[in-house]
Amino acid sequence: MKLIAALICLAAPLATAKEVTEADSSKFAKFSKQYASWQQTEQSREIVDALAEDPRLVVLWAGYGFAKDYNKARGHHYTITDLRNTLRTGAPTGKEDGPMPMACWSCKSPDVPRLIDTLGEKEYFHGKWAKRGDQITNEIGCGNCHTNKGKLRLSVPFAERGLATVGLEWQSASKSDKQTMVCAQCHVEYYFTKPDVMVKFPWDNGTSVEAMEAYYDALEFKDWTHGLSKAPMLKAQHPGFETARTGPHGRNNVSCTDCHMPRVTNAEGKKFTDHNVGNPFDRFEFTCARCHEQGKEALQEVVANYKKMVTDLKIQAEDQLVKAHFEARAAWDAGATEAQMKGALTAIRHAQWRWDYAIASHGVHAHNPAEAMRVLGTSLERSAEARAMLARILAANGVTAEVQLPDISTKAKAQAVVGLDMDKLRADKAAFKETLVPQWDRDYPGKTD
Ligand code: HEC
Ligand code: HEC
Ligand code: HEC
Ligand code: HEC
Repeated sequence: MKLIAALICLAAPLATAKEVTEADSSKFAKFSKQYASWQQTEQSREIVDALAEDPRLVVLWAGYGFAKDYNKARGHHYTITDLRNTLRTGAPTGKEDGPMPMACWSCKSPDVPRLIDTLGEKEYFHGKWAKRGDQITNEIGCGNCHTNKGKLRLSVPFAERGLATVGLEWQSASKSDKQTMVCAQCHVEYYFTKPDVMVKFPWDNGTSVEAMEAYYDALEFKDWTHGLSKAPMLKAQHPGFETARTGPHGRNNVSCTDCHMPRVTNAEGKKFTDHNVGNPFDRFEFTCARCHEQGKEALQEVVANYKKMVTDLKIQAEDQLVKAHFEARAAWDAGATEAQMKGALTAIRHAQWRWDYAIASHGVHAHNPAEAMRVLGTSLERSAEARAMLARILAANGVTAEVQLPDISTKAKAQAVVGLDMDKLRADKAAFKETLVPQWDRDYPGKTD
């Protein structure tokens, strides 16, 4: 018996060399302070409808899922709920159903590393979004950033590869780089490769807006064909890491967690990392005040000023893009040829990519307002070029009057203009939530009826 036990002991480390991610965060509850603060991400529950706030977005994303539904980010607690609820993921009725691929789960859940550990990366990515909906039910949790023993780590191979292309290897990374790298698993620009539909960070040429644009252009990659202008479009995801790293804090090795997950001291005098990832101003004394002498109001005002400057320029860039898309459509309607349109459509592609890169990561006014304004400036240049070309094309095809814009003053009006049947999309989604979603929750491994 003793010999057998000894053999098992020897064999055990080999058998468990690849540990399978624990996706159920309640299994980590013994880390009570971290666990309780992680649970507080539930309190950031407000849903802000970005399309209602700014209906121009519907026109910019015509022909693409984002025109149907796009809310601003809220607490990490809601990643699964929000992905199921968004009209962008459609209304699958069974495992083979789209419209989205499995890759869409990749930044939402610790079940993703769990599945990659058990199935391998290729098999995880294989198939449509609904294929493993019953396997991915845990919101972002401990397993996304920690080993089962609670050590900080990168949990997904595609992030390891992406970060390595910009010289960030986990083993050799500094403490502050690691604190940023865990966030850069998700808060980055990425795309889905073809034909295998895996997540890749487009950083082979670098992380600037120009470097990624060149990367996508060389691949002739497009996310979709624009519904009005027919331009081959790119959708920026949320290049927060890329824009933050060249900002005043990123350049000085201030990590994401210095502001969003500070070391705090609780009432009993115990120090720990606050896991309620949210607005750094809510814990001012442990974040900004650690390094700055100015008071909270003063710094909030600085950030608010930057926000206003970025937002003003953002709206200008959007107004130009809206006009360019409608003018391109008018040119097609007037009989323009592909050869005539090519240059203008490329300029629209670039202008919109630059606008999106600058603002899609939301916090850019706090992270790197100067870069956001620089990039928005180049967006305005490219859309001016597009519109000048379109004016010539329109004239060559006999259109000399200014192209009239339809009424896009509300989300509903804009969605009608781009041809969306919102009632049907909503009804299909409701049916999905009544039928498939309860099955998914029931069939999750380890759950009983
Ligand atoms: C988004 C990434 C992320 C998630 C999710 C996450 N952590 Fe952490 N955790 C961190 C970071 C970053 C640190 C700080 C590490 C450092 O400073 O080097 C940390 C530190 C810790 C520590 C070390 C002690 C301390 O307070 O610094 C413990 C224990 C811990 N986390 C437990 C948890 C538990 C339990 C969960 C799930 C309920 C969790 N973490 C979820 C990123 C995360
Ligand atoms: C596994 C992917 C993933 C990781 C890792 C991750 N995030 Fe997020 N984060 C998201 C997603 C997805 C959302 C949007 C959630 C929603 O709206 O449903 C989000 C939302 C946020 C928000 C908005 C919160 C709010 O209350 O409005 C902040 C801030 C944020 N993340 C910062 C961070 C920081 C800092 C890190 C690293 C410590 C990090 N995130 C790690 C995916 C991730
Ligand atoms: C110097 C502090 C600081 C650092 C470092 C920092 N952030 Fe932020 N971040 C902020 C502030 C402040 C805001 C909110 C600004 C506001 O209130 O308008 C913010 C906003 C955000 C948001 C948008 C939240 C929302 O609800 O719209 C995300 C996401 C985010 N940060 C992620 C990150 C990531 C990822 C990193 C690292 C790559 C990072 N931040 C580094 C201070 C920081
Ligand atoms: C870990 C230290 C640290 C933390 C935390 C921190 N900062 Fe900073 N901050 C810096 C450093 C370093 C610089 C760059 C100073 C320089 O370039 O001289 C800087 C620069 C700035 C600047 C000037 C940037 C510019 O435009 O040149 C502002 C504004 C600022 N921080 C605001 C904030 C706010 C708001 C927070 C909290 C949300 C915060 N900082 C948190 C270290 C920090």
